[in-house]
Amino acid sequence: MRHKVSVIGAGNVGATCAQYILENKLADVVLVDKVEGLPQGKALDMMAAGPSRGFDADIKGSNDYADTADSDIVVITAGLARQPGMSREDLLAKNVAIVKSVTEDVSKRSPKSIIIVVTNPLDVMSYLAWKISGFKSNKVIGMAGVLDSARFRCFLAKELKVSAGDIQAMVLGGHGDSMVPLARFCTVAGVPVTELLSKEKLDKIIERTKNAGAEVVAHLKTGSAYYSPAASVVEMVECILKDKKRLLPASAYLNGEYGLKDLYIGVPVILGASGVEKVLELPLTAEEKKLLGDSASVVSSNIKSLNL
Ligand code: LAC
Repeated sequence: MRHKVSVIGAGNVGATCAQYILENKLADVVLVDKVEGLPQGKALDMMAAGPSRGFDADIKGSNDYADTADSDIVVITAGLARQPGMSREDLLAKNVAIVKSVTEDVSKRSPKSIIIVVTNPLDVMSYLAWKISGFKSNKVIGMAGVLDSARFRCFLAKELKVSAGDIQAMVLGGHGDSMVPLARFCTVAGVPVTELLSKEKLDKIIERTKNAGAEVVAHLKTGSAYYSPAASVVEMVECILKDKKRLLPASAYLNGEYGLKDLYIGVPVILGASGVEKVLELPLTAEEKKLLGDSASVVSSNIKSLNL
């Protein structure tokens, strides 16, 4: 059976998502943007990469949401990206209107889909997409933890001079300055990283992980990261389409887990064909609980400001 994934927003993140989905042979892709010609041009260009890159899935660029009908997954990347000096929260007001209207457009045409939200501020936008879609909360998921933990893994790999592929890491909390990389749950092929690095070194790497998105923005000056966000989205897309039931950090709706209610925030989830199949509750230390609670307060107050 052929799967269909619609990617909303043909900017850098959206287009790179489309490219990785095609190259990984996961699904046919519809790339939608409001700018006339942009999704069509990028789609046509990507299609012609197929013979060389070895994929034959269909890619269509469109300005019309009708083309997204009956998608298995819809990835929402539409919205403004950060510029130097901006926090993800600075994007809130502008991106609310965009994510609201995109969600209305896609949810009615693909009522059985799973929505993956990428637009920042991520946890708030995921909550918004869930509310507006009327979907069950397991079907609306925010992408952030996979990216934040990938960054954590890369920085650890560089420090330890080992393959990042051997490093497992868990990052909880909101996708913002208050994120909570959990060194205690981080291992290199099963060896706790706390056995391999001093607290000082680990703390430095944790700080770099928290600021990794801003580090990219500071270099680029005209926008934010896209290769790694797109790669993280596609890891989630694959997990859902293949019902892999991987344990990944993602922004999910909490209804009492971790003592938190009525918000989206990064937690470990089992991801499979029905979306978030389970939220895992890790036994946290008092300090970790406090950090997660502080992060949740930031997300919750932004959610409240939406007056949904
Ligand atoms: C980042 C943006 C995508 O973390 O939130 O780079």
